[in-house]
Formats: sequence, structure tokens, C-alpha cells
Amino acid sequence: MQSFTSFFKRKILRIDRDRWNYQYDKGLWDGLKGLDELARFSVIVGYIKHLKPGQPEILEIGCGEGFLQQRLQSQNYGRFVGLDISDSAIETARVLADEKCTYLVADMDKHQPTVQFDMIIFNESVYYSKHPVKTLQRFATYLKANGFLIVTINDHKHSDELWQSIKTAFDLFDEATAITSKSTCICNVLLPKGAA
Ligand SMILES: C[S@@+](CC[C@H](N)C(=O)[O-])C[C@H]1O[C@@H](n2cnc3c(N)ncnc32)[C@H](O)[C@@H]1O
Repeated sequence: MQSFTSFFKRKILRIDRDRWNYQYDKGLWDGLKGLDELARFSVIVGYIKHLKPGQPEILEIGCGEGFLQQRLQSQNYGRFVGLDISDSAIETARVLADEKCTYLVADMDKHQPTVQFDMIIFNESVYYSKHPVKTLQRFATYLKANGFLIVTINDHKHSDELWQSIKTAFDLFDEATAITSKSTCICNVLLPKGAA
């Protein structure tokens, strides 16, 4: 009965949360831990340490099982808030969280932060929003003065189009490309228009 309910919610009602929980529970996203995913995390970690050295306050949207926070390491953030639509992913992320971390189950299309951040990061997640550019613009209003948005998108057939609309809405501060044996991932550091 439980598996029928899960099937019904995922396939018939198409509830995102159930779909993502199912995929995490089945281990379908275990590949994100792989060495061939390390480069994109390392690029983000490098940007954070260089642009906001010390104890930045960071929000990660679509944080999955918390790999960015784990790779960044506790001494490089003052506060780390991660949110994801999947309860399963967040439960796993909480296992390796420290007292400076808060992991929340939330939908990026609805969530409203209550504080501001030095960096807001969408690492392979923004394209799951119903309105990616509007979502980035909405979250950008939760950046502190001199704050940055960091967005990564793996190269795929629609990524150029998405980058074009993102670059129309934001000022590009810097760009890096991580190429691995598995994929090519573009990472942009963005500023709200006119903030530079
Ligand atoms: C490709 S995974 C990337 C996970 C993590 N950022 C990483 O790089 O390992 C995309 C993540 O976005 C989350 N996600 C999808 N739709 C979401 C939504 N509407 N709100 C919040 N998170 C969402 C998924 O649960 C998943 O963890």
C-alpha cells in the first residue's frame, strides 16, 4: 500500500517532494558524491574563500545532502543555511551538520528567508524552479550589501538559453568552467544589476 501511495504521488499527482524523496532513497543521486563532481564544488569553495574570507553567512538553495557545506568546511563560514525540497536529502545533510548549520525542507519557489546573506548559491538546482530567473531575482533581494549570487549549470541543450536570460537580469562578476570526465559545468558569480 505504501509503495502504491508513493507511486500515485510521484507519477499521477507528480508531487515534486515525493519524486525527489524517492530518487534519494533509491540512491539515484549517489553519483553527486563522485570524484567527477568534485570540480564544480571546488570552484564554488574557491570563490567563497576568495570573495568572502572569514565567516560569511551562506544560503544554499537545493543543497541536496549537504556536500557543499561539507567540502567548504566549518572554519570557512559563520552560518550555513541549506534548503531542499527533499526530506530524505535534508535528513542526510543534518548528519554532518555542525552548530553553525541549519538545514530546512522547503520549496525554492515558495521559501522566504527571514535574514540576509553574504552569498546565495544555486549549485545545479536553479533549473528546477518553475521560473528560474524570477527565483534568482527574488533571492537576490536577500543578499547583504556587496553580497554575491553563485549559480552553476551543467552544460545541456537548454543551458545557453537559460544563461542568456540570467545574464540579462544580472551583472556578471566572474565566470569559471569545470570540465570533468563526466560533464562540463559553468559557474557564474552574479551581482544584482547596478550593484557593482
Ligand atoms: C541535481 S541535485 C543538486 C544537489 C546539490 N546542490 C549538489 O550539487 O549536490 C538538485 C537538488 O535540487 C533539489 N530541488 C529540486 N526542486 C526543488 C525545489 N523546488 N525547491 C528546493 N529544492 C529543490 C532536489 O531535491 C535536489 O537535491
